[in-house]
Amino acid sequence: MTTEASTDTKLADTKLKEIIAAQEEIFVRRQPKSQRLAEQAKQHLAGGVTSSWQITAPQPVWLSRGRGSKVTDVDGNEYVDLHGGYGAALAGHAHPAIAKAVAEQAQNGTHFAQPTPDAVAVAQELARRFGLPIWRFANSGTEATMDAVHLMRSITGRDLIIKIEGCYHGHHDSVQVSVAPDEQDAGPQEKPRSAPSSSGIPRAITDLTLIATFNDLDGVARLLEENENEIAGMILEPVMMNAGIIKPEPGYLAGLKELLHRHQALLTFDEVKTGLTVGPGGVTRNENVQPDLITLAKSLGGGVSVAAIGGTAQIMAHVADGGYEMVGTFNGNPLAMAATRAMLTEVATPEAYQNIERLRQRAAAGIQDAINENGLVAHVVTAGAKGCVVFSAEPVTNYRGFLGVDDRYSHAHWLYQHNGGVFLPPWGKIEQWLISVQHNEADIDRLIENFAVFARAAGPATGG
Ligand SMILES: Cc1ncc(COP(=O)(O)O)c(C=O)c1O
Repeated sequence: MTTEASTDTKLADTKLKEIIAAQEEIFVRRQPKSQRLAEQAKQHLAGGVTSSWQITAPQPVWLSRGRGSKVTDVDGNEYVDLHGGYGAALAGHAHPAIAKAVAEQAQNGTHFAQPTPDAVAVAQELARRFGLPIWRFANSGTEATMDAVHLMRSITGRDLIIKIEGCYHGHHDSVQVSVAPDEQDAGPQEKPRSAPSSSGIPRAITDLTLIATFNDLDGVARLLEENENEIAGMILEPVMMNAGIIKPEPGYLAGLKELLHRHQALLTFDEVKTGLTVGPGGVTRNENVQPDLITLAKSLGGGVSVAAIGGTAQIMAHVADGGYEMVGTFNGNPLAMAATRAMLTEVATPEAYQNIERLRQRAAAGIQDAINENGLVAHVVTAGAKGCVVFSAEPVTNYRGFLGVDDRYSHAHWLYQHNGGVFLPPWGKIEQWLISVQHNEADIDRLIENFAVFARAAGPATGG
């Protein structure tokens, strides 16, 4: 690095530190009740929150209500909500069709552990959208991907699975591997290690999960050859969405399917995040590659907890005949099924997707303009209702590229949006915005305006 470049970097560092400190101070000042609740909560809630993802800097935001495209915090500040409950609020908040379906079902009983007719309607619609004929339900993305992994192993009688470095599939043992490893733990890029992503998981289980690099077909071919007749299948997010947004290169998904099938192994698309958000039939339909199994959750239930696992007739026959017991007290819960039916038939409609597409284009163009005008080293990536700003000059094609992106810019951007009345998901460069069916142009313009304010403060010299 030249002396000049190193001085530029130091100046950019100092500027960034200063704007983060100033914005964090404003953030805390605007939220005294949240601050008090955060302290009080620590007495009886571990870490003062209900999920460790809610522990965010400078402090967790406590919400009181959501309506339409907005949420309000306990201090009375209103936000355009593009956090969307980590991608689960494609319906927006208190959507009339969801509220009606839930209220009606609540009057008729919220739990039976016996199937209700809505389950048939939901499975039929999922089959139509995603092209896989047979479905079952669960309650969270974690349960769905756990069932998918079990099922791949049960059918093939093999123990090993392949997972992509940087993909997240929930918090069960087999997939808590190389989710967000740092450089030392990750191993060489051409042969990534299986790095544990959580404590409490036996090494013996972690070792059953082999790691591949996204967009690298050769790496998967090598793993299949080195472990002939031992690999049950592969699970991946077909568009990576726990590392910003990373898209598959042309031919990658089809190539994976071909490779895996050649070795009698199965392919699972984890569409928990992408599912209804990138389009009505997920990446599966957009890319026209039919996997053996699909997992869905998040936005599927219109904000109510639900998940689904879809499979080919042959695979799901193994469930039907008891070869694999796919069970759960709350699977197909009537409240969840009523909300999901409403989501699929009344909320995630073709008109809703058209509106989202208009807003996607508006957000992407507006933010990219502000990037260009202020000389920021960054670019916008979108996929349907989802989008993010990647603070790097180069397109990111896999987790190693993502590791190199400077997270401080994402945090600073998040703070500017928050203080300016737009709630993006916390966790900086990892997460994306979610445009719901209830957002409008004014909401998106607010996102763009806040971004422009941030860009003026942070530009022109950035990391990357
Ligand atoms: C792609 C993906 N799969 C699975 C999960 C786990 O879902 P849940 O948090 O509902 O267990 C997540 C959660 O973020 C996810 O992003």
